[in-house]
Formats: sequence, C-alpha cells, structure tokens
Amino acid sequence: MKNTDLLKLLDLSSEEINEILDLADQLKYDQKHGMKHEYLAGKTLAMIFEKNSTRTRVSFETGIYQLGGQGIFLSSAESQLGRGEPIKDTARVLSRYCHGIMIRTFEQSKVEELAEYASIPVINGLTDFAHPCQVLADLMTIREHYSTLEGLKAVYIGDGNNMANSIIVGCLKSGMDVAVGCPDAYRPDQQVIDFAATVEGHTLTITSDIFEAAKDADVIFTDVWASMGQESEKEQRMRDFEGYCVDEKLMAVAKPGCMVMHCLPAHRGEEISEGVFESHADEIFEEAENRLHAQKAVMVLLMKDN
Ligand code: CP
Ligand code: NVA
Repeated sequence: MKNTDLLKLLDLSSEEINEILDLADQLKYDQKHGMKHEYLAGKTLAMIFEKNSTRTRVSFETGIYQLGGQGIFLSSAESQLGRGEPIKDTARVLSRYCHGIMIRTFEQSKVEELAEYASIPVINGLTDFAHPCQVLADLMTIREHYSTLEGLKAVYIGDGNNMANSIIVGCLKSGMDVAVGCPDAYRPDQQVIDFAATVEGHTLTITSDIFEAAKDADVIFTDVWASMGQESEKEQRMRDFEGYCVDEKLMAVAKPGCMVMHCLPAHRGEEISEGVFESHADEIFEEAENRLHAQKAVMVLLMKDN
C-alpha cells in the first residue's frame, strides 16, 4: 500500500482497496482458525474519540490486541485535546510514543492536519465527511456474499452524510454503479459528486425518488437521518426525511436476494423498518464483525514497517 494514512477513500486507488480487502479476508481466516498473526507485536495505537462509539472503539482495541499490540483510548473529555491543546502538537507528541493514531472527530480538516504533523500513520475512524473504515468493512461483506464487487448496483437511501460520501467513492472505485435516493437538500458532498463525474465505466445517479434509486439493487445501504453532531436538527430532519425508509415496499423493487447494509446504530421505524432490519440481521452483523478484520488489515498495512 502506497498511502501512509487512511484519511478518506478518495485518497486510495482501487488496487489499494483490493489489497486491504484481500488481507482482511486472510486475517479473518487466521482469526477463525486460531492462527497467530501478531504482525504488530509491541506496537501501540492511540485512539482519539471526540464522538461516541461502540463498534469503532471495540473493534480497533480488540484488533490491535489480536495483532500483538495495544490500543490507548483517549477521549477528548479526559485528554488535553478537550482543553484546547492544538491538534498539531498532539500529533507530534503521540508520534514519539505510538506507532499509529486512529481519530474520530468532526471536521475532516482536523484529521488532515493531524496527519500532516504526525510522523506515524493516521486512520480516520469517522468524521462529518467520511467513514472509510466502515465502508471497507461493507465492501468486504458484499464481496464475501457475491464473490465479486465488479458490476453490482449499490444503492444508498437517506442523508447525504459521511456514510453516503464513503459508499459512493468506495463502491465506484470497486467497479460498482451507485444510486442515491435522498431529499434534494441533503445531497452528498460536492467533492464526491465531482469525483464520480471523473469515473469511467461506472455511474453515480442521485434522485429524490427512492423507488427509482432502489430499482434492481444488489445491495441497499442506509444510515441515520441525524448523525452525531446534528442533534439540534433532529426534529427538522425527522420531517424532511419522512418516507426515506428501507422497508418491505422498497425492497420489492430491488433484485431478489438484495443485501441490506447498515453501519449501525439503527433507528428502526425511521431509516429502516423492523422487518427489513431483522430479515437482514445476519448481513448487518457480519458487516459489524468485518469492521474488526478490515481495520486489522489497515493497521497491518500502515503500521508494520514503522
Ligand atoms: N458504525 C460505527 O462506526 O459504529 P460506532 O459509532 O459504534 O463506532
Ligand atoms: N452517520 C452516522 C454514522 C455513525 C456510525 C454518524 O456520523 O453519526
């Protein structure tokens, strides 16, 4: 892997995404068969959280442990970051103790600045703009199911948020077509739309008609209507997203056997119906498990030589 950080999927080539997915499959196999894979023995990963997390925290901390290393959890409330220590100073300090930094925060620019000043790899564990680790796990899950990604139709229903941005980029780079069904005022980031326009052979379609978007889908993704940091907009969003729900009626226009992906946590009765969620629970929880394997692959590729 040429990249020395994982800040957003826009930075990765299709080959790099493939390399991560292939290693993730191998690491999953090793883990399931009790085969030791301590590629990061003695190394430490600093994990900065400025937003809540269950999956990201536990999968990174478990992952680095299984690789022979150790995770160090830093919440903004408890670290000096919460008292205003600049990110560029934090970057230079952590670089002298640790071998990698994972960060979950608000602005993408903060992650980019952290990477600029750190001399060790930086991994984006979610920003307002992107959630690359999640989408690597999603691609791994879809590839396990269909044995390929090339030529599939991926659909995203809901808010044009961090998940939408990363799904569009990750799926297009993996040879899929993408359709997004979202209200006009909640379209994905322009940077992502501009990227999609440069992709040859695969298309991004954005429509406010979710049935048009979901037609003949091989996989349908959705995510919450109000993301972390948007709590004050929740009531407005509830009104604006009414009907943008992955339910049985929507699934009926997808291909038979269409997968459903949800990064979790899910709000049943809002972006997804209880019935669709539970009938696709095996896929959704495999997706959650694959966070562990995909992130272990990212850590090995980025941290093994430093
Ligand atoms: N999907 C995801 O990132 O979950 P957490 O917010 O629990 O980390
Ligand atoms: N879009 C959601 C994803 C949570 C994993 C958020 O940013 O809160």
